[in-house]
Amino acid sequence: MTRTALVTGATAGIGHAFARRLARSGTNLILVARSTGRLEQIARDLQDRHGVDVEVITADLATTEGIRRVADRLSEAGRPVDLLVNNAGASLAGWFGATDIADEDRQLDLLVRAPMHLMDAAIKSMSGRGQGGIINVASVAAFTPRGAYSAHKAWLVNISQWANLQYADVGITVQALCPGFTRTEFHQRMGAQTDDVPGWMWLKADTVVKASLRDLRRGKAISVPTLRYKILATAARHAPVGLVARIAKRGR
Ligand SMILES: NC(=O)c1ccc[n+]([C@@H]2O[C@H](COP(=O)([O-])OP(=O)(O)OC[C@H]3O[C@@H](n4cnc5c(N)ncnc54)[C@H](OP(=O)(O)O)[C@@H]3O)[C@@H](O)[C@H]2O)c1
Repeated sequence: MTRTALVTGATAGIGHAFARRLARSGTNLILVARSTGRLEQIARDLQDRHGVDVEVITADLATTEGIRRVADRLSEAGRPVDLLVNNAGASLAGWFGATDIADEDRQLDLLVRAPMHLMDAAIKSMSGRGQGGIINVASVAAFTPRGAYSAHKAWLVNISQWANLQYADVGITVQALCPGFTRTEFHQRMGAQTDDVPGWMWLKADTVVKASLRDLRRGKAISVPTLRYKILATAARHAPVGLVARIAKRGR
């Protein structure tokens, strides 16, 4: 049973949807993001609506200090966290090689280094208690060769598959959640043009979260929400790499 969950990137999109659904089921929350005002507003709303305890941590997860603050909270023995949702993320508008390498460093820290450190802290704490869950929000982009963003998400998928097997004996389930296009603030923040993405390809954040939590209960290492994206992801994993790269070039 999940009594307390820590969700990163909880002020918008998929992270906010995780926070809402978990609060509705009576789970106490620790919400992490950079914008304190939005975090506090969401915390008040969820406390009032669902009567759960909500802590907030303001942290930039592209920084060592931000990562440490959240990892320290996960390591607190007296206040255990049962579920970690490594969700915070963003993308750059340009392709690797054309972008500023300092921006790429920040992306690597946010999309790989932060989840790695938080997973490490969570596994160490959860294995001592014999139970826990970790959801690493990756992307269907992980199954396609498409720049640094896809490579970072592929790292998350690979380590989640391994960790789910490695730590099953101590009661920890690790999942890589791989959504397709989801209506959130993500594309607007990166300044991406999405007019050419057909309507059927867009998912609701609530649909993504519902599928993820159902798959977590089933112990699945990879969750690809909706049948249409399961078919696309399976095709992407088996089709010739050049063909997949050409098709996938359209979006993230
Ligand atoms: N939307 C899609 O189509 C899609 C598809 C596949 C996978 N994903 C993945 O889903 C995850 C969530 O994305 P979303 O679509 O929900 O995006 P979103 O609506 O833009 O939300 C991103 C969240 O991450 C937080 N965040 C961003 N940078 C941060 C930083 N440096 N430190 C701490 N928090 C940070 C943001 O809060 P603050 O700005 O307040 O910090 C916000 O709460 C990401 O990992 C993304 O790669 C998205």
